[in-house]
Amino acid sequence: MNKISIKLATCFFIVVLMMEYFLMVYLHRSIVHTRVEEEFSLLLSNGANHRDVLVEYYSETTIKHIVLMEMNEEREVVITDNWGNIVGDSGINSNLLEEYLPLIKGKVGSKDEIIISNWESSPYIVSKHPYKISDIQSGNVVMFQSTNSLNRMVSYLSIHFVIAGIMSFLILLLLYAFLSKVITRPLIGMKEATEKLSKGEFNVSLPKLGKDELGELSFSIQKLANDLERLKKDRNEFLASVSHELSTPLTYLIGYSNVAMRDGLNDQERKQYLEIIGEESNRMKDLVKNLLDLARMDENSFTVTKTYFDSQPFLEDICKLVAPSFELKNIKLNLNSNENFTIYADSIRLGQIIVNLLDNALKYSKENTEVILEAYKKKDKTVVKVIDSGIGIPSEELDFIFEKLYRVEKSRSREYGGSGIGLAVVKELIEAHGGTISVDSKLGIGSTFTITI
Ligand SMILES: Nc1ncnc2c1ncn2[C@@H]1O[C@H](COP(=O)(O)OP(=O)(O)OP(=O)(O)O)[C@@H](O)[C@H]1O
Ligand SMILES: [Mg+2]
Repeated sequence: MNKISIKLATCFFIVVLMMEYFLMVYLHRSIVHTRVEEEFSLLLSNGANHRDVLVEYYSETTIKHIVLMEMNEEREVVITDNWGNIVGDSGINSNLLEEYLPLIKGKVGSKDEIIISNWESSPYIVSKHPYKISDIQSGNVVMFQSTNSLNRMVSYLSIHFVIAGIMSFLILLLLYAFLSKVITRPLIGMKEATEKLSKGEFNVSLPKLGKDELGELSFSIQKLANDLERLKKDRNEFLASVSHELSTPLTYLIGYSNVAMRDGLNDQERKQYLEIIGEESNRMKDLVKNLLDLARMDENSFTVTKTYFDSQPFLEDICKLVAPSFELKNIKLNLNSNENFTIYADSIRLGQIIVNLLDNALKYSKENTEVILEAYKKKDKTVVKVIDSGIGIPSEELDFIFEKLYRVEKSRSREYGGSGIGLAVVKELIEAHGGTISVDSKLGIGSTFTITI
């Protein structure tokens, strides 16, 4: 089940245990080696001391003194003469002495040396120190150092190493538990979250995990879940809104076409009903067009073909196009652009942008107010402003009005009609031109939309 934690822990265990093993073996060896070397040099220096004293004050008394000095548990001394006879010993076990006799009685050498060094198997390490007073007065001072203390020290050391090994194993176990908590648990949480997402359940909540890679991953999954949740909500709202928008004109169409078909209507009445049918059909057409634009926007298939054209006729045409709807609502539309200049843009798309902004200005303005369409050249860019004295937009909503399907206060758009697509399309079109759009608005006073293309 927790495969990643098992893999991680196994790798971790093997690597650390191997490192620990090599480290401990190395340490153990070097400690023992240093200790043994110390023992060897101490024995050699003691032996050399005795030999020097013997050479200087050679007498039986000196031999006795040397022997007396070494009468302890750990060290023994044996002094031989020219013929290998023992002239003094500190009471070394006679069986052992028997065993070492061939070595002790050997030829008088010329230098100090360790003659038995295998401390692990022998009860003593032995050093030999030759002395020579005259041609007939010579021999060896042989030192014996018990290996008991060395062996004791090594077994203590081994016990300590075993304890250290067990302790570090326990620490490793703790580390494993910690790693599994810090790394694998969040991963399992994320895995479960993504499984929920794939089943369409978007209400996941992952804990904040700091700023490392895991934290970033968790943050991204949480963001994805939130986005999907919002998208789902938006889609439902959009579908509700679209069905509402389509069903209202359809109800009118069906109702008024039934009425228009009635007998006994005069031409005047029939014309009035047909006009309403015409208006509602246009509203439906606009809505369907906007929906198509939105669908194309999602596919990124908006294309702009820029050309150079004159500003004045272009703007006047737009004003002519929208004038009837402004007149109907008794709103004055002022074109504030006196001199002609050249615009470099896709004229159809730019027309669509301005009509959309004017449509909003009209829709969200009270009767008997004024809307200004202003245009001028700034460096090599064209600036177009649509200024209204309408209902305005609350400042906290300004950041969202360009989002798809976003409408300020749903009740407001029921009143004014609108599906929250217009400005999203406008923004997409402006960005396709490489331009920018900004808005300045005060609730109850009016709004100014500025585009730079
Ligand atoms: N000139 C304006 N004055 C006040 N509010 C505005 C103005 N322009 C836009 N808004 C607000 O911004 C929201 C988004 O506008 P947008 O044009 O995207 O959608 P809409 O006008 O509601 O519907 P659509 O344009 O798709 O028919 C609107 O719901 C409206 O509340
Ligand atoms: Mg609009």
